[in-house]
Amino acid sequence: PKITYVSHDGIETVVDVAQNDSVMRGAVLNGIKGIVAQCGGGASCGTCHVYVDPENTKPLSQMHQVEDELLYFTACERKENSRLSCQIPVTEEQDGLVVHMPEKQL
Ligand code: FES
Repeated sequence: PKITYVSHDGIETVVDVAQNDSVMRGAVLNGIKGIVAQCGGGASCGTCHVYVDPENTKPLSQMHQVEDELLYFTACERKENSRLSCQIPVTEEQDGLVVHMPEKQL
């Protein structure tokens, strides 16, 4: 599935992410700057924060409490469309998903 990562300054990079990898891993494995992912996907660092595109119509994984709580401690402000990208698994249903990266993760 193809995922589009948009940097804070508007540069779009489209990456083919393997099924069942997370949106975070898709970025890290492809050298996308803007997602730090210090904890490696354990939902404990908050440095894989993304803003899901406001126009998104793809079904996304449900947000669990751990993610919800951690989103209050990200470097950039939490918005309504904030998610931790390590908590979004990629399947065919997410093909075409667009995520925007915050200005900083730390
Ligand atoms: Fe640490 Fe997502 S990689 S919370």
